[in-house]
Amino acid sequence: MKIGILTSGGDCPGLNAVIRGFGKYVFNQIEGVELYGIADGYGGLIRGEWRKMTPQDFVGILNLGGTILGTSRQPFKLMTLEESNSPSKLDLMKQNYKKLGLDCLVTLGGAGTHKTAALLSAEGCHVIGVPKTIDNDIYGTDVTFGFHTAVDTATECIDRVHTTAASHGRTMLVEIMGNKVGWLTLYAGIAGGADMILIPEIPFDPEAVVATIAKKASSGKAFNIIAIAEGAMSREEAAMKKKARQLARRERGETTATQSLARLIAERVGVEARVTVPGYMQRGGNPSAYDRVLSTEMGSFAGKLAKEGRYGVTVAVQKNEITYNSLADIAGRQKSVPVDHPLIKTALSLGVSFGVEKI
Ligand code: F6P
Repeated sequence: MKIGILTSGGDCPGLNAVIRGFGKYVFNQIEGVELYGIADGYGGLIRGEWRKMTPQDFVGILNLGGTILGTSRQPFKLMTLEESNSPSKLDLMKQNYKKLGLDCLVTLGGAGTHKTAALLSAEGCHVIGVPKTIDNDIYGTDVTFGFHTAVDTATECIDRVHTTAASHGRTMLVEIMGNKVGWLTLYAGIAGGADMILIPEIPFDPEAVVATIAKKASSGKAFNIIAIAEGAMSREEAAMKKKARQLARRERGETTATQSLARLIAERVGVEARVTVPGYMQRGGNPSAYDRVLSTEMGSFAGKLAKEGRYGVTVAVQKNEITYNSLADIAGRQKSVPVDHPLIKTALSLGVSFGVEKI
């Protein structure tokens, strides 16, 4: 049996642990298996760049951040595009899948990776996905590997700004990654004891934000921590088309809502407001123990799916059970934070604000 494995999209803690879990499983459980590591995500499959892997490749990588295979972003919308009569990226990938004589391709990645995996699968390739992302936005799985490590990192960032917030009596806005969803901000915000949590799923009302900070300032709560998702937006912005929103922000020299909100708070409440953006720190570093366990489970389960010849699927966790979903069912769908999520209710019951008067 010949299997290819690649990691695609943004890097994420746990990629190497999944590669290891998968590699160890197949070398132990599938007689005569050949495993090929494809370089730099779908890019390597497009260009025909791979190397044969041996059990030695999986030694010492369980706790290693990043990916030993390399990765790249390959925008889904360009996959089927044919440029000046040359084959599309999809055609090149199919050609190389056949050239390498693969029985199966394992793709570790996020939402974009899964859309391409579903496309390859629909074109007749045997694909198994594994859901990676710090954003936790993959449909059909309760959790993605890498998410909890990023929660730990983002929480530590919030912890660290607490001291400055308290010492100076400032309002600190910590902008947390997560793309279009607020999972990372919600979890880190609660873990870091944020006073306010702003997520894309609950567009904030600037007046309510100002009123909340002002009330706390007048009642003697001199400092505030706001965990704000990079995808957070005001109600007014949420009503705009994406392009118009981006243009309006670009005209202010900004890409997110955070700086504007900090300025508004400073002007209207008269407190010092500062922004911290941990950025790629949240994707870096070693996977936490939780993510090592989850990645090992997901990797070995993907190996089991390969052994059983179960293709066109992606690994998932549902109610603490490891299982799988059909790629066709989950591709292109997003798992957002439901506004009635129990964690939101818990936070609200503790007096945490979500930047609106009422949810
Ligand atoms: O999907 C992971 C993620 O880190 C998002 O949270 C973020 O919006 C995006 O990737 C950043 O992407 P890039 O690596 O292309 O800058």
